[in-house]
Amino acid sequence: MKLTSVTSDDHTGLARTAIVLAGGFDQIDLITELRSRGWRVVLIDYNKRPPAADAADLHYAESTLDIEAVLSIARKEQAALVTTACTDQALLTVAHVSAELGLRTPFSPDQVLRLTNKEWMKQTVLEHGIPSAAYTTINTDDAPPDGLCFPMVVKPVDGNSSKGVTLVTEPAHWRAAVARARAVSRCGLIVCEEYLPGIELSVDVLVLDGRPRILMVSESEKLENPEGAFPIHRSVQPSAQAIRFREEIETCIAALVKAFAITDSPMIVQLIASPEGIRVIELSARIAGGAKHRFIRAVTGYDIMRAWVDLLSQRRPPEPPQHAFLPAPPRALYCMQYLYMRPGTFDRFEGDDLLLHDGVIQEFFQTKTAGMRVGEALNSSNRVGAALLRASGQADLHQRLARLFADLRACDEHGVDQLLHPATAG
Ligand SMILES: Nc1ncnc2c1ncn2[C@@H]1O[C@H](COP(=O)(O)OP(=O)(O)OP(=O)(O)O)[C@@H](O)[C@H]1O
Ligand SMILES: [Mg+2]
Repeated sequence: MKLTSVTSDDHTGLARTAIVLAGGFDQIDLITELRSRGWRVVLIDYNKRPPAADAADLHYAESTLDIEAVLSIARKEQAALVTTACTDQALLTVAHVSAELGLRTPFSPDQVLRLTNKEWMKQTVLEHGIPSAAYTTINTDDAPPDGLCFPMVVKPVDGNSSKGVTLVTEPAHWRAAVARARAVSRCGLIVCEEYLPGIELSVDVLVLDGRPRILMVSESEKLENPEGAFPIHRSVQPSAQAIRFREEIETCIAALVKAFAITDSPMIVQLIASPEGIRVIELSARIAGGAKHRFIRAVTGYDIMRAWVDLLSQRRPPEPPQHAFLPAPPRALYCMQYLYMRPGTFDRFEGDDLLLHDGVIQEFFQTKTAGMRVGEALNSSNRVGAALLRASGQADLHQRLARLFADLRACDEHGVDQLLHPATAG
């Protein structure tokens, strides 16, 4: 890591401006951290009242994917830094705008393309001999690709938050899945890959000087649904699978760091612990979304968001603890329970204060503001919140989850509770 420091003050002593792309719940901590270090923060998010708007000095309601619009705001605001955290596709905008303005950024546009476009990503993974699902890229829905076996997963090459991702178990459902993926793809290309059975793991990593530090490995449980979507239901840590597959996971993460030439960055990797061993679903060079930085902090005590802002400032972050593969102490089972509501307009949560007060949950995260629309599809962008729980074991966790779903309400604009109660919520 080079040691020239990027600080929030220029030689005139005036605060320098950082542009932050995306203003969800997760970016509040990024903005707060930047401002605590003296930056003036300008937020860009196409929502009129995004959750992070109040944390920033100024908010522009523009799309983070509109490179020209972001470039013009960055010029107007004389930005010294353009960045984001915990979100995927905006990384491409960060790289392009920073390159255009000659600003420092961890990744070039070419590098980011391989980290955000699933076609380039899969190609790089397989070229480096890293185990992943067999795949092909298509742009028509003529017929299921030869050489791949059902069940398959169909997804847009340029998607995120599981939007347009569908499990297809038989050829009759093929066309509908391709149409769903195409509807959310900007470039129209679709990845088809074989379905990998097994337990899904999410690995949070901090890479320093090209060497990965694995912070946490959690299990991602998906909500069963007839549409073949993959909505994440909860993340649980520790995972017995992580401890069982420790060596394979470490080898795989080291190979990914090398293949994607990541030197100093947070990184998130989605894996399947399959009957054949560890397989990569995808990766990104960023902190994971869904309040994961708070989850990591609760479990490990390490503040990955501060580490990210250190890296943006070209300071070396503190060395993280290496506890990811230690068996859990008998008293600690952590769970991030994601919260969905029926389609409509979100207004407010009720009951969260009491749940916190009574110690049923440790932290509560509201990811939509009043008046935001919640769509029909079961994916992460339609989540309204999340609750972090710490339990003494499975039985205690299930009791806490039962109390959470009994006492929490996600109200629409008429005050009617629209919280979805998953059948498996305990
Ligand atoms: N080949 C596969 N085998 C099994 N499950 C898969 C496969 N590909 C995708 N999935 C499931 O679909 C989910 C979403 O896929 P993917 O991560 O590729 O898309 P995404 O749009 O980046 O979603 P997210 O932002 O939620 O990670 C995965 O987390 C996993 O549960
Ligand atoms: Mg993913």
